[in-house]
Formats: sequence, C-alpha cells, structure tokens
Amino acid sequence: MPDAKISEIRTAARLSVAPMMDWTDRHCRYLHRLLSSQSLLYTEMVTAPALVRGGALHLLEHNSQEHPVALQLGGSDPCELAQAAEMGASAGYDEINLNCGCPSDRVQSGTFGAVLMREPARVAECIAAMQEAVEVEVTLKCRIGVDEQEPEEVLPAFLKQISAAGCQRVTIHARKAWLQGLSPKENRDIPPLDYDLVHRMKAEFPDLHISINGGITTLAQAQEHLEAGLDGVMIGRAAYHQPTDILAGADPLIFGTGAVAEPIEVVQKMLPYVDAHLADGGRLHQITRHMLGLFAGRPGARGWRRILSEGAVRDHAGPEVILQALNSIASNAPTEQAV
Ligand SMILES: Cc1cc2nc3c(=O)[nH]c(=O)nc-3n(C[C@H](O)[C@H](O)[C@H](O)COP(=O)(O)O)c2cc1C
Repeated sequence: MPDAKISEIRTAARLSVAPMMDWTDRHCRYLHRLLSSQSLLYTEMVTAPALVRGGALHLLEHNSQEHPVALQLGGSDPCELAQAAEMGASAGYDEINLNCGCPSDRVQSGTFGAVLMREPARVAECIAAMQEAVEVEVTLKCRIGVDEQEPEEVLPAFLKQISAAGCQRVTIHARKAWLQGLSPKENRDIPPLDYDLVHRMKAEFPDLHISINGGITTLAQAQEHLEAGLDGVMIGRAAYHQPTDILAGADPLIFGTGAVAEPIEVVQKMLPYVDAHLADGGRLHQITRHMLGLFAGRPGARGWRRILSEGAVRDHAGPEVILQALNSIASNAPTEQAV
C-alpha cells in the first residue's frame, strides 16, 4: 500500500469511532461520516468463519462515502483470518483490524476476542498471515490483560510480540477483561481503567501507533490524550449516544480542518440516503435508531427522540417522520430574547 495512503489512515486514527456490534452498522457509519469527514470509522466485528466458511459477503457491504473505514475481524485461525482479510480488502476497506478485546462467551468459545491476550504467539501468527494477504494496514484492538494477568507485564510482552510480527498500529481498551463472571456490558465498566499504563506503553514503544480507548466521553478529554503523546483516541459509547458532541466538532478541533457540522444540516443530508434505503425495501427505523442522540443535550432533544422512535417503527414510515421530528426541534429553538 502506498505510504501516502497509510499515513492518511493514521492521521484519521487520531479520532476513531469504536467497533460496536449491532451499533456501528453501515447506516450508523454513514451518519457519523456526515458529522465528521476525517475521523476513522470501524465496522462491527465480523467473524472470519462467517465470511470464509459461511460466505456471508453481505456483512462487508458499505457505502463509498464511509471512507476511511476499517473492517474489524474476529478469529484465531491464521489461514482463515488471512482469507477474511483478503475478502475485506477486496471489498474496499482501508484497514483490517483484529479483535483481541471482546469478552463475550460466544466469542470465547470460538477462541477469539480477549482470550487471545493469553496467546500472543498465536496473535502474532495471525497478524503475519493477514499482512501477507493484504496491502492495507493490519491493526489490532486489545485490552490491557485478562483475569489474573498482570497488565504491567503482559501488555508490554504482548505489544513486543505483535510489533515483531509487523503490526504497527494498535488500539488499547485501557481496562482488563474479566472472562469469568462478568457480562460483556459489565466488562466495559467494572474493570478499572488504567490510562497511565497506556501512556507508558507509548513511551516504551515510541514507533508503535497507539490509540487509547475506554471511558472517554468528550472531545476535550480526547485532546488531552493526544497532547500527552498518544497517537489516537477511540470513542465508543459516547460517540454513539451523543454523536454531535463527539463528532460534529472533530474536524476543526482534532484535525484542524473544516467547520463544526450542524446537526440539522446533517439530518437534511440523511434524507436522500433514507429515500434510497426505503426504495430498496429497507425500514426507516433501521437508519433512524442511530439518529436518536443527534440533538442530545440540545433544545427539543426529547421530542426529537420520541417522534423518531415512535414514528419510525410504524408500517410504511417514511421521511415525513424525520421532517416532523425536525419541526419539533425548530419549534424548540431558543428565540433571540431567550438567548
Ligand atoms: C454495544 C457494543 C458493542 C461492542 N462491540 C464490539 C465489537 O464488535 N468489537 C470490539 O472490539 N469492541 C466492541 N465493543 C467495545 C467498544 O469497541 C469499546 O472498546 C468499549 O465500548 C469501550 O469504549 P467506550 O468507553 O468509549 O465505549 C462494543 C461496545 C458496545 C457498547
């Protein structure tokens, strides 16, 4: 892959939206792209067996507007991951990411996700095989350790091994995954965050591009991590629930380009996309469910949410529901006097 392209994606990785199963589908990513033209977007995890053995090519569908966009893969078999990576790269993804952070039972039983923190040699093999298969960058998302592991010891050893295999960019979710006894949801909140450890890893591995993830809820916090020397910040839940707060200002504030996106204009730009989806036989709520948080914390947010969530699930619901919800925003806009 040309160096210029790699450097473009690395710049985009200054701010990324995390892979989130059932959330960061293609409709969500299209919306996020309208809010920020520069940030890196990740797909939900797609398992290598689903692609390679199941032939589930529809999981690779995405819109040409989504770039830069990374495909996250789950798996632990180097050959299968290499094949899946090749399929992803051929489908047009700009990066292939390997999931070493997901703690769910289903994922553990298939030996992928966070359990791979126990098998750095196997991860290194997977990375090497994937790199062999594609020209785009192969990256990794991991935790700081699992269960009884000592992060201070296992994380540097893990990073050393995967860098030796050629991985040059990693996102670290700054908490352990506890594989026994916690649900995936609890595993995103209960194990304590250790941001300092991630910052120390950057000092120890200066050539590795390191993004930090976990519990970051504002752009100001993201900027602090970048100013403190990290290469990137990945935001998950906050970007999903308050997409405007996190993404609308990202272009000027994080990338030094463009203007703050206006959520009303973003909604208007979604309308042709919605029309095309409905014309293809899709349902309105498949798109609007990702738009509920667009006005979070702003006047009219409650009405917007209510009209969209009630209206969009009705049979034959169309763009008029969005327009009606927009009207409720307009009627809540502060008057000059109120300002
Ligand atoms: C609904 C949901 C689904 C998730 N699915 C994935 C996934 O498919 N792959 C992955 O690596 N992480 C997944 N995660 C974890 C996020 O990528 C991220 O690491 C985590 O939410 C912590 O970041 P945050 O505090 O900014 O949300 C998921 C998180 C949520 C909330």
